[in-house]
Amino acid sequence: MPTNVQTFFDKKRSGEKLVMITAYDALTAALVHAAGVDAILVGDSAAMVFAGHETTLPITMDEMLYHTRAVTRGARGAFVVADMPFGSYQCGRDEALCNAGRFFKEAGAHAVKLEGAANVELAARMVRAGMPVMGHLGLVPQSVHQLGGFKAQGKTPASAALILEQAAALDAAGCFAIVLECIPSELARRITAGVRAATIGIGAGPDCDGQVQVVNDTLGYAAKYIPRHAKRYAQLYETGLAAIRAYVDEVRAEQFPAPEHEVARAKSGDAGNG
Ligand code: KIV
Repeated sequence: MPTNVQTFFDKKRSGEKLVMITAYDALTAALVHAAGVDAILVGDSAAMVFAGHETTLPITMDEMLYHTRAVTRGARGAFVVADMPFGSYQCGRDEALCNAGRFFKEAGAHAVKLEGAANVELAARMVRAGMPVMGHLGLVPQSVHQLGGFKAQGKTPASAALILEQAAALDAAGCFAIVLECIPSELARRITAGVRAATIGIGAGPDCDGQVQVVNDTLGYAAKYIPRHAKRYAQLYETGLAAIRAYVDEVRAEQFPAPEHEVARAKSGDAGNG
């Protein structure tokens, strides 16, 4: 049975953990879908881990639509959540609604994700317009300059109280799920117990209704940096590096291509157009 919004509520109720992971291209989307994740997030983290920017801020609507199309093409039948990029929903409600609609209409997304709680009214309008909305609280990377860096949130009583309040507001606005990023586990546990929406944690401990990870971290694709909240389940960087080094060496040593990689000469009588 393919995932839909109801799956999030059902799994929250039954206690079965939800699993979400990012993907930005068709091949990776097919891989994570085949592995059985509940949902794929086309995160604006693409700006950093795909495009090499320092923050998520530069990625555009057109780029996010491009990534989302690639993911929905690569993982047919998967539940795909598209991140609304910075600037695409802070620009006034009507334009924000149109931008959100483009992810469904032009890219085949099943939900959109918005960061922060300044957009509670907007989230409610999107939900009323039939667009499932996932919230995102705690370390909200689009506010990196306001937060003074990629820093954990909710560590002081005042900050924890604010995030609790924001979660309640997003829940009341009709969000079906809320990502909780880099907040203390105890705070995530309290939020999870208090909202109808499913909570999806990243660096928010084990008591959320589900977990999300950035696929590059999970596959070990980055050379060095790995966030504290991530776990490398594979070593793609090392494997890839060794493979490309072997290719470089074999071309230079004239071992590749070998005869089996050559195009066969046409047999007499062949049309010769293959
Ligand atoms: O953009 C992203 O990948 C995200 C996750 C870290 C939740 O928002």
